[in-house]
Amino acid sequence: MKSKNNIQLTLKNLEATPHTYGAAILNKEKFIDVLFEIVNTKDIKAKKERGIILKDILSNRIKDQEGILNIDINGDTVSLRRDVLISELEQIIESQTEGRANYYLNRLIDGIQRVKTSKINDINLLRWKEYDNIITDSLWILDKRDTSGAHLGWYWGNFIPQIPNQMMLRYTKKGDWVLDTFLGSGTTLIECRRLGRNGIGIELNPAVAEKAKELIQKEPNNYNVVSDVIIDDSRTVNIKEILEKYKIKQVQLLIMHPPYHDIIKFSRDERDLSTAKSSEGYLKMFGEVVDNATPYLEKRRYFALVIGDKYSKGEWIPLGFYCMQEVLKRGYMLKSIIVKNFEETRGKRNQKELWRYRALVGGFYIFKHEYIMLFKKR
Ligand SMILES: C[S@@+](CC[C@H](N)C(=O)[O-])C[C@H]1O[C@@H](n2cnc3c(N)ncnc32)[C@H](O)[C@@H]1O
Repeated sequence: MKSKNNIQLTLKNLEATPHTYGAAILNKEKFIDVLFEIVNTKDIKAKKERGIILKDILSNRIKDQEGILNIDINGDTVSLRRDVLISELEQIIESQTEGRANYYLNRLIDGIQRVKTSKINDINLLRWKEYDNIITDSLWILDKRDTSGAHLGWYWGNFIPQIPNQMMLRYTKKGDWVLDTFLGSGTTLIECRRLGRNGIGIELNPAVAEKAKELIQKEPNNYNVVSDVIIDDSRTVNIKEILEKYKIKQVQLLIMHPPYHDIIKFSRDERDLSTAKSSEGYLKMFGEVVDNATPYLEKRRYFALVIGDKYSKGEWIPLGFYCMQEVLKRGYMLKSIIVKNFEETRGKRNQKELWRYRALVGGFYIFKHEYIMLFKKR
């Protein structure tokens, strides 16, 4: 069954301002005045009637005689998601007591007047209901990748832009710094530009990195953020030096999407994790990247590892869990394991039938998922 969140995500990646769709733009001062008047109305019946009038105005059923839609050029406006606002008015209208109605009214007033965010993102917790673009479930079924703007999806082995988009909305603020140690085609940095986060990406393969640079440049830089692509080995690159260029010491989000060992051979370079001779060799290399990058993640901030398992000679190799163990060994706190469905890769599309036959013969299941493992620095 698809959840509402998943459906939302297939539409478009959204910014932290959640009410782009179906927004009601109101005269802020007037609307708050009206809400206070309702709070001060003692009679519950009269309160409800006023609530019904507001709901009808917002549903375009009656003309606005309250003046809440009169937008003054010099006046302050507030943009609220119409469906959420209507459901809040319904709560008020359905309240059984004056106290309950006032509780909902005051909560609505508070959400309009104040902004309450945590230290790690820009989500206004007083209006949390409006953020249904942000997933909070651990199972992600996404039917479509976002191919808008510079996201072309050309790179075999890339991740869908919704992954860095969700991570940044939940775990960073505008202006924060994001480090991706396996940049590939630049998905993370393109998303950084869209959301106003500074991004640093490291990629070993020069040809891939150059193409990523080109694409990132194509994405408008409306927030004037840094997008730096470094061609190097993430196990040994001097991250301190890179950060010093920008006069910073740490980043606020770390994203790693390493090769899933040798499932896709990205190059013949022996520094490339996809060329490791064995799972042990691969994990050692992965651990070296973790050791090289994590000292530059700010305390109490998040590290998202995107990884899948693999088969080798008919045996399921739980690569994702092995990698998770490498991170946990280093003292990180596991916050979530998200299971995300796998899109059909170009390579497998024509061979679907063959894989199904092989699965039936070989007694195995065809991979349809990967993991986003979320860690927090203590
Ligand atoms: C799974 S892909 C990442 C894809 C990326 N998330 C995207 O959306 O395009 C892994 C990338 O890691 C790169 N890589 C492998 N070993 C590396 C290393 N030691 N240092 C830096 N990059 C490496 C590969 O060249 C490949 O592009």
